[in-house]
Amino acid sequence: MVMSAIVRFTTADASRECLGQIRGLFSTAFDENFTEQDWEHVLGGWHVVIKDDGVVIAHAAVVARVLEVADRAFHTGYVEGVATHPGRQREGLGSQTMSEVSHLLRSEFELGALSTSVHDFYERLGWKRWQGPTYVQHNSELVRTEEEDGGVMALPFGPSRDIDLTSSLSCQSRPGDDW
Ligand SMILES: CC(C)(COP(=O)(O)OP(=O)(O)OC[C@H]1O[C@@H](n2cnc3c(N)ncnc32)[C@H](O)[C@@H]1OP(=O)(O)O)[C@@H](O)C(=O)NCCC(=O)NCCS
Repeated sequence: MVMSAIVRFTTADASRECLGQIRGLFSTAFDENFTEQDWEHVLGGWHVVIKDDGVVIAHAAVVARVLEVADRAFHTGYVEGVATHPGRQREGLGSQTMSEVSHLLRSEFELGALSTSVHDFYERLGWKRWQGPTYVQHNSELVRTEEEDGGVMALPFGPSRDIDLTSSLSCQSRPGDDW
């Protein structure tokens, strides 16, 4: 009998085999543009995976970042590495994964955020397009990231439920893509 299960764990608790499966999933779900730095971005926080017969077929990661809305800092769960195996897409697996991510965000963080080109997928799940200007903090310098404005989405709740989506939004710089 084929068994599928949704599980949540930290990178620190992940087995080498499981991380290898997640990496393998990215190789098939994303095009060649998935870089080593993109891989680094999914590590260090939480993973939500769906396994089918012990094999990872869907994944999302949540890593902790500080995002500032106008001048107010939020302990943010930043979502990375959302992928479903190409042979299993449009079965609701990505939505199930993001539903578990949403529970995780609400229990551990003050705000959810991510950057994407597939807005429709996230909008159905309650995520909002950021409408204000985005920036990245390089040490003490705030640099405008105009090209990222259209991709950033947020999931406000609890302490962030009333944030103004037209405000400025900034993140800290990191190796690779900042957003
Ligand atoms: C985006 C992705 C994770 C969706 O996973 P999934 O398991 O197919 O998602 P679901 O089956 O839960 O989709 C539910 C609904 O979301 C929407 N949706 C799903 N994939 C979509 C896409 N690529 N573009 C736009 N809308 C999409 C559809 O409305 C879909 O409902 P439908 O099948 O009844 O039309 C998957 O397409 C994927 O792995 N893509 C490649 C990697 C990627 O781009 N990841 C996102 C990076 S931010």
